[in-house]
Amino acid sequence: MTAIRSVVPADHGALDAVITAAFGQRDEADLVERLRRDGDVLFELAATHDDTVVGHILFSRLPIIRDDGSVIAAASLAPLCVRPDCQNQGIGADLIGAGMNECRKRCIPAVIVLGDPDYYQRFGFSAAAARPLAAPFSGPHFMAIEFDSGVLKDGGKVRYPAAFGLPG
Ligand SMILES: CC(C)(COP(=O)(O)OP(=O)(O)OC[C@H]1O[C@@H](n2cnc3c(N)ncnc32)[C@H](O)[C@@H]1OP(=O)(O)O)[C@@H](O)C(=O)NCCC(=O)NCCS
Repeated sequence: MTAIRSVVPADHGALDAVITAAFGQRDEADLVERLRRDGDVLFELAATHDDTVVGHILFSRLPIIRDDGSVIAAASLAPLCVRPDCQNQGIGADLIGAGMNECRKRCIPAVIVLGDPDYYQRFGFSAAAARPLAAPFSGPHFMAIEFDSGVLKDGGKVRYPAAFGLPG
């Protein structure tokens, strides 16, 4: 049985191994460490099987600055992963579903993701919603979902946390 719960510091070591195994490299695990260290994590969830962590999703602060200087306090979804031997069992979908619910509870107006359109479109993300934004990314892989309908339509400048190492 898969359960989804908040990440606690005692999970960090096991999650590091899950993230590294899922991506086949350390880059994403290092990104997670930097986001935690910088205090830019909004929340993290773990998927567990019998108390063993098998999946992870992280949401970080993603301010979007409108032309009038006001700020949309959006979230970035990254990274998402499931341990290779547990993939294709719906755990990724469960993590996204639980993450979306938590974002709604926290009144986060929009979530931005860079990922495979075929996967994220299932959950309501669209490249069209992200198109008005000025960001280091564009195209079909750069997607958004609005919980506050129309909040992204007038655009704004996306400010990724320093941990991503992107131009700001
Ligand atoms: C992407 C990932 C999190 C999906 O988790 P999962 O638990 O295997 O996914 P689910 O069981 O919820 O969904 C499986 C479905 O998604 C599809 N899918 C999985 N990864 C996909 C991808 N990268 N692109 C498109 N579709 C994908 C599968 O083909 C499957 O399709 P089906 O339902 O038509 O059979 C997992 O495969 C993973 O950890 N991959 C390596 C890390 C990664 O690439 N993370 C995404 C960063 S954006």
